This record gives sequence, C-alpha cells and structure tokens, in this order.
Amino acid sequence: MNSDTRVAWVTGAGSGVGRACATALAEQGWTVALSGRRAPELAETAGLVRAAGGTPIEVPFDVAADDARDLVESIAAATGTDRLDAVILCAGSNTPRRSWSDQSMAEFAAVVQTNLLGVVRSTDAALPGLRSASGVLVVVSSIAGWRPSPGAGVAYSASKAALAPVVRTINDQEADSGVRATLLCPGDIDSDFLSQRPVVPGAAARSAMLAPSDVARSAMFAIDAPRHVRIDELVISPLSQRSF
Ligand SMILES: NC(=O)c1ccc[n+]([C@@H]2O[C@H](COP(=O)([O-])OP(=O)(O)OC[C@H]3O[C@@H](n4cnc5c(N)ncnc54)[C@H](OP(=O)(O)O)[C@@H]3O)[C@@H](O)[C@H]2O)c1
Repeated sequence: MNSDTRVAWVTGAGSGVGRACATALAEQGWTVALSGRRAPELAETAGLVRAAGGTPIEVPFDVAADDARDLVESIAAATGTDRLDAVILCAGSNTPRRSWSDQSMAEFAAVVQTNLLGVVRSTDAALPGLRSASGVLVVVSSIAGWRPSPGAGVAYSASKAALAPVVRTINDQEADSGVRATLLCPGDIDSDFLSQRPVVPGAAARSAMLAPSDVARSAMFAIDAPRHVRIDELVISPLSQRSF
C-alpha cells in the first residue's frame, strides 16, 4: 500500500448508508475495509468501491458476536499498516415488535448487542489505529437517539440514545491523541432498514426520505474537516420529517 493511502473501516458496508459511505470514500481513493455479516452484499459493495477508484478489503464480521480486535488485526494484515484514518460504524438493527405490549427481552437484548455493544466493541478495537492516524470516528446513531421517538421502539431508542455518551467520552478523553468523533443522527432513510418497521413504508413515503448518499455526505463532511476541527454531532433529516 502507498504510504499516502488513507485507510477506513466501515461496518454495515453491505447496504444502505454503509455502502454509500464506502463508495464516497472510494471516490477519494481510500482503501476501505468493508464489514457486515452477508458476504455477497460485501462483494457487491467491493465492486462499487473498485469502480469508484478505491481499494476494497472484504472482512465479514458480526458486531454482535465476533471479536472486533481480530477484525482490526485482519485489516492491519491486509493493509500493512495499523493506522485507521476513518472508522464509520453503520451496523444497526431494530425489530417490528417495539412497544412494551409486544417486545421480547431476547429481541431487546439483540438490538442492544448490535446498536450499543457492537459500537462500543468496534470503537474499543479501532482506537489504537485511530490514535496512530489521528483519525475520525463516525458513529451512526439516529434521530430516535437524539430526541424521544417512541415509534422507533424502546430498545432502538434506548440503544441509540446511549451512543451520545460513547461519542462524548471519546472526544473528552482522546483529544490529546488527535482522535475526533462525530455522532451522526439521521432521520428517515430510504434503505433496507425500513423493512424492520411494523408497517413498511411504500414508494411514495420513501421518495420523500433521505437517500443513503445524503447521510454519507454528512459523514464525509466530518471526515474531511481539517485536523483541528471536530464535528461533535450532526443531525440530518428529510424536509418531511416529523416526530413519530
Ligand atoms: N433507515 C433509516 O431510516 C435510519 C434512520 C436513522 C438511523 N439509521 C441507522 O443507520 C444505520 C445504517 O442503516 P441503513 O439505513 O443503511 O440500513 P441497512 O441497509 O439495513 O443497513 C444496516 C446494516 O447493518 C448491518 N448489520 C446489522 N446487524 C449487524 C451485525 N450484527 N453485525 C454486522 N453488521 C450488521 C447489516 O448488514 P448484514 O445484515 O450483512 O450484517 C446492514 O448492512 C443503522 O445503524 C441504522 O440504525 C437508519
């Protein structure tokens, strides 16, 4: 790898926002480690990264179950450097059963495992690489973690709201090593994620939502900022967004 090449790790890279972020990084020539559970979807994103001018590394990874340190080691082995110039944590999940009347504790735990513990484990494993590069961490939360959104579900809202202190403590404690973290809180996005809603939106509703590329553009705004500038939090919604 050329010593000027920047290395990013994107979780949830097989679809939606993660795929759009990987493609946006590739357009700037980054080497992008792509992780997610579904290998065929990662391979498809890898093709898009290559076509956009980047270098993909496919590293299948379940944020709820696999060891994030092993994953980061495999990225270092593939790139020949331990630096991580950017890490974008997009992996997330929800369930259609979202209220106290129908949620199950097993599903609640699974959502927290992915949305909160998955982010914390990934962040913990990525920090040495981020320190080496004075890199940028982007944590994809949700507008449902930014303000109360009962429709998004108890587990989802609670797990996403818990990401604010994760990002804030990184920024308090890691500034001296040059690491900067951004909490990115999007409203409705037209992606596969909507299939997890109790009532799946139709084409008309989807057409008014954010596109994954809109969210990727916000992530790139944080990543492209000069090294002395930290974007602590970004909230991005479609014009049509209302409380739900
Ligand atoms: N769509 C929305 O309206 C919306 C709004 C606000 C925030 N968000 C957030 O945006 C992020 C990206 O979602 P999206 O809209 O782009 O939907 P998406 O296309 O469904 O993306 C979610 C990604 O997370 C990955 N993922 C889920 N569980 C995982 C696990 N245990 N380990 C590894 N990867 C896992 C999935 O890949 P695999 O299944 O291959 O693992 C998938 O690529 C999520 O964190 C979501 O909470 C979405």
